[in-house]
Amino acid sequence: MTDDLLARHRAVLPSWMPLYYAEPIELVSGSGRRVTDAQGRSYLDFFGGVLTNMIGYDIPEIREAVERQLATGIVHTSTLYLIRQQVELAEKIAQRSGIPDARVFFTNSGTEANEAALLVATNHRRSHQILAVRNSYHGRSFAAMGITGNRAWSASGLNPLQVAWLHSGDRVRGLLARLSADEQVDAAVEDLREVLATQTAGDVAALIAEPIQGVGGFVHPPDGLFAGWKKVLDEHGILFIADEVQTGWGRTGEHFWGYQAHDITPDLLTFAKGIGNGFALAGVVGRAEVLQAVPAISFSTFGGNPISTAAGNAVLDYLIAHDLQANAARVGAILADGLRSAVGGLDCVAEVRGKGLMLGVEFVRPGGGEPDPALTNRVFEAARDGGLLTGKGGLYGNVLRMGPPLTLTEEEAHEGLAILVDAIRSAAGVAQ
Ligand SMILES: Cc1ncc(COP(=O)(O)O)c(C=O)c1O
Repeated sequence: MTDDLLARHRAVLPSWMPLYYAEPIELVSGSGRRVTDAQGRSYLDFFGGVLTNMIGYDIPEIREAVERQLATGIVHTSTLYLIRQQVELAEKIAQRSGIPDARVFFTNSGTEANEAALLVATNHRRSHQILAVRNSYHGRSFAAMGITGNRAWSASGLNPLQVAWLHSGDRVRGLLARLSADEQVDAAVEDLREVLATQTAGDVAALIAEPIQGVGGFVHPPDGLFAGWKKVLDEHGILFIADEVQTGWGRTGEHFWGYQAHDITPDLLTFAKGIGNGFALAGVVGRAEVLQAVPAISFSTFGGNPISTAAGNAVLDYLIAHDLQANAARVGAILADGLRSAVGGLDCVAEVRGKGLMLGVEFVRPGGGEPDPALTNRVFEAARDGGLLTGKGGLYGNVLRMGPPLTLTEEEAHEGLAILVDAIRSAAGVAQ
């Protein structure tokens, strides 16, 4: 059955769209944090459709909000007409963004959100120079690929922007990895000054950064790096764009937004993935004077439509009512502590990192620290065999990624942890 679907998939869909697993699976139903495939096998889901099923599957509050909207007969009106749910959601996001005098523009995807952020930043600053971070991923449009610092995920060399690259703050590899956290921040800030002086004309539009790099394997800099950078940027009037597509809405546990670990306020913030819990909803929020720097009509047919914003309001209300940020901190700690104590000391594990319910394990060959994507893949397949879906990532494909729904329970965390630890130990050939 699935084999036939796989053959049909391969016959009509492009080969550059990756499918997970040696034997790809079709997920046909879901409830809470569990999904079932077409063979009837059920899995605990620690990847949530790439951190997008943020509340989980088949959540009545979200389903009912969408059904209420469907029942009105209005699925779409276009933004030429007032959309009540859109205004309500924009009010909530503006208020929670931490950005003063905020405006919100809704799109359908994270790519479009970043594209919109780049549009307003470059217009506002009258410059097409951008600072981006090595090992980043920001999407698949030409501008978003142009600021993506990961060759495997940047499918074209064509670039409408002039981009200069900063260090990621990676604690495992790269030139600054040997330094202590404070030294690394100082070095990265010094590097920013040098990049500005040597690789730009000075009048740069913006710096864009993910607080925790998603596709990049959950690499994140020491807390405070963004503040160090922002001090320099402010001397030049350069804007700061926080790409919160993966880190937003309390996922990091300690904060509602990833940028808050750095004690800054960004000029622009982009969001996507989790806010729709699967419905296509994304956007950019920014200071009015920046976000309104658009000298012509800019219009998204589907952006912020009645269905997706009905879902978005229900997601945000659920998230706040159930304090899922606190849950991410509490349940994430079970996973992080459990992984560190069970496998953190293995020679093949370079780092267990991340925050809240955004956790990665980086695998290396024992000894030299060379990335080990083959081992990562064995762990990934073994976890699936054990009934757990995870993600993969990192510049070298050697990071296992966990981004479960923020509703994950303590029991589920323990259950998933046991599967993960078994998968890692068996794939690494460690006696159980
Ligand atoms: C940090 C980040 N920004 C932007 C994007 C692009 O979002 P989308 O795939 O919705 O266009 C992604 C997608 O994975 C992402 O992780």
